[in-house]
Amino acid sequence: MSHQEEPDHRPEGGFSTPVGSRRTFFHWVTVAAAAVVGVGLAVPLLGSLISPAFMRRRRAWVDVGPVDELPAGRPTQLDHVTTVRDGWQEATSHKAVWAVKQPQGDVTVFSPICTHLGCGYRWDDAEKKFLCPCHGSSFDVKGDVLGGPAPRPLDRLPAKVEGGRLLVMYKDFKSGLRDSVEL
Ligand code: FES
Repeated sequence: MSHQEEPDHRPEGGFSTPVGSRRTFFHWVTVAAAAVVGVGLAVPLLGSLISPAFMRRRRAWVDVGPVDELPAGRPTQLDHVTTVRDGWQEATSHKAVWAVKQPQGDVTVFSPICTHLGCGYRWDDAEKKFLCPCHGSSFDVKGDVLGGPAPRPLDRLPAKVEGGRLLVMYKDFKSGLRDSVEL
């Protein structure tokens, strides 16, 4: 059995890339470049669409009225409307807070929710206490627990005075815990 040698198709003078391989190479370079550009455009676009879903609830400062009208040392219930943005959703709701103006003019603002199991409480001017009707918790004017099953003082809300107006940022907190944990 004789062995015949294959003819050599290489051009004289050295090596070269066959034409078919070169075309394939440039095809894949073009595809890779298009993919890089596509990903570069898609990532920011997807990010702008998805990121609101992962954002924490955003709340705004709300004007709840003039500070001058608050009596010093006596809690006042202030009703207002607040807007909460949660991802793509925006909800408006009516809220109330308890504000106490200190003799020096500072204002302390409490969440209106009892820290035991979440009932609303009220200020009893005769007893000088906040009283919760659900299980009998009571709090003093500084929000500290006087009695009942409440595990912690009343939750304080961020508050500031600007141009004589009291601004409050409403927040919700988990009930029944020793520490104040925002929802
Ligand atoms: S919810 Fe206020 S004492 Fe239970």
